[in-house]
Amino acid sequence: MTPIYFLFTVLALQVDAISPTVYERGPRFVIEPPVKVEFSNNSGAVINCNAVGVPSPKITWTRKEGLHPIHDLNTLQTTNSNSLRHIRSDGSLLFNPFSMENYRPDIHSATYRCIVSNAVGTIVSRDVNVKAVRFGAFNVDALLALLSDITLKRV
Ligand SMILES: *[C@@H]1O[C@H](CO)[C@@H](O)[C@H](O)[C@H]1NC(C)=O
Repeated sequence: MTPIYFLFTVLALQVDAISPTVYERGPRFVIEPPVKVEFSNNSGAVINCNAVGVPSPKITWTRKEGLHPIHDLNTLQTTNSNSLRHIRSDGSLLFNPFSMENYRPDIHSATYRCIVSNAVGTIVSRDVNVKAVRFGAFNVDALLALLSDITLKRV
C-alpha cells in the first residue's frame, strides 16, 4: 500500500467512526402499492405500502391532487376503529366495509399515493386508483372492464 493510499484509508475509517450519517440510506420500496385497487363495499380493502431505509422511514398517504397527508376519515356514526379510511401503523391504507349511505366519492373513488420519507429523502409511489363498488355490482363492473379491455386490444 502506498503511503498516500494508506492515509486515505485511515481518513475514511475515521469518518465512518465519527459520523453515523455514513450509514444513512434513502428509502426504497419493499412493497409498492398496485396501480389499481377495486373492492366491494362488503369486503373493504387493505393496500400495502412498505419501505426500508436508515433511519427507518415514515409512511404517509396523500390524495393525488392533495399535497398534504390524508388522515383517518370517520362517518359521524362510527368510531375510530371503524373509520371509512384508516392508515395502519404498518403503513398500509385500510378501507373498511361500508353501507351505501356512507359512500364518499372523495374516499372510495379516488387516486392515492404512498409517500415514504426519512432524513435522507422522500420517495413517492405510482398512482393508486381506488374504486369501491356496491356488492353485487362488483362482478358486472369487472366484466365490463374485461370486455372493454378485449375491445381495446382488438382495435
Ligand atoms: C353493501 O351494499 C349492499 C347493497 O347496497 C348492502 O346490502 C350491504 O349491506 C352493504 N354492506 C355493508 C357492509 O354495509
